[in-house]
Amino acid sequence: MRIGTPLTPNATRVMLLGSGELGKEVAIELQRYGAEVIAVDRYPNAPAHQVAHRSHVVQMSDPAALRAVIELERPHLIVPEIEAIATDELAKIEAEGLAVVIPTARAAQLTMNREGIRTLAAEELGLPTSPYAFAASAEELAAGAAKVGFPCFVKPVMSSSGKGQSYLESAEDVQPAWDYAMAGGRVERQLVIVEGRIVFDYEITLLTVRALGRDGEIETSFCAPIGHVQVKGDYVESWQPQPMSKVALERARDIAGKVTAALGGRGIFGVELFVKGDEVWFSEVSPRPHDTGLVTLASQTQSEFALHARAILGLPVSTEIASPAASAVIYGGVEAVGVVFEGLDLALQVPESDVWLFGKPEAFTRRRMGVAVARGRDIAEARTRAKEAAGRVKVVE
Ligand SMILES: Nc1ncnc2c1ncn2[C@@H]1O[C@H](COP(=O)(O)OP(=O)(O)OP(=O)(O)O)[C@@H](O)[C@H]1O
Ligand SMILES: [Mg+2]
Repeated sequence: MRIGTPLTPNATRVMLLGSGELGKEVAIELQRYGAEVIAVDRYPNAPAHQVAHRSHVVQMSDPAALRAVIELERPHLIVPEIEAIATDELAKIEAEGLAVVIPTARAAQLTMNREGIRTLAAEELGLPTSPYAFAASAEELAAGAAKVGFPCFVKPVMSSSGKGQSYLESAEDVQPAWDYAMAGGRVERQLVIVEGRIVFDYEITLLTVRALGRDGEIETSFCAPIGHVQVKGDYVESWQPQPMSKVALERARDIAGKVTAALGGRGIFGVELFVKGDEVWFSEVSPRPHDTGLVTLASQTQSEFALHARAILGLPVSTEIASPAASAVIYGGVEAVGVVFEGLDLALQVPESDVWLFGKPEAFTRRRMGVAVARGRDIAEARTRAKEAAGRVKVVE
């Protein structure tokens, strides 16, 4: 594997599409290996913009604007960090041989739309999922909800981080859920998925890496399972390793192996699964680092960001866990531009802790502004420490 010198004609150029906190860590890892990093986001001074060689502000859902920045920068690798991208244009760019899309343009197309990935997982691969139906109107939603049964979840097919999602207990909740989904999705007229509720003991993210092995063939490896707590579709706390039965872990790996093989390419994937006893259901997958995987900054010798950088550059990977650890999110809590963080010193007095502040130019009440991570003898101690450290950081205007 050869790598050039950044900022010279032989540089290995990598373009991040989406420059949030996950992209920032990927950019740092790529920089360490000497790649030239170009960070793109829809607003200036996004977290990864601040650590890249160059940055651009582009509406990435606009196909012409997306192509223009790619033709300008001529990256070798394009690394999507968000879902809201003109993925059909990415597919054309990949087909023209202009750049390699990580993991593949098809993976970005399938996973940006819940209909694509759910149909692939449940119908083509035959993986266990919640019962589901798609609906294009309130009437279809009523029929779909009756079919999958109450309680159920409604989600716009194109949405993430809980946006436009509702939990329905009875038929009375159908119309408000439909209206909310139409207001919260990414595109105007669109489809929703209605999913029957899975009553699980816990949910995990199984980080799965597709990277080149010694023989030059792609090999699949799995990180230890990450347990997490979600509030309103957004993660607030995660830990690793989540204890699981041997059978459940085997099933989880089998599902993750199949779905990532179907998506193809190289890189890390966050496979979201629900677990009850020995039973495992596929929920969804990100073909990129996962927010709950921020814990790997403390738990693994190679974080999910290092694994992604290595995998996409064609380098070997190790998913070894170094210590039980946990992460806890630091929210904005206020709506303000240019906030100040107090108590970082107090937070870092918590044993084996660390805090990352993302540098986002503007805070919102529920915006993730930073994360605390901590190691411990076990996940209980690590979780207590991470939450304690996160709680000591105060965001002020
Ligand atoms: N069918 C279901 N049964 C039980 N719980 C569910 C179901 N669907 C969603 N949830 C709960 O809601 C959370 C968010 O759902 P999902 O991952 O589909 O949304 P999302 O908007 O893609 O969130 P994110 O972008 O944070 O991953 C899940 O992690 C789980 O806790
Ligand atoms: Mg999710």
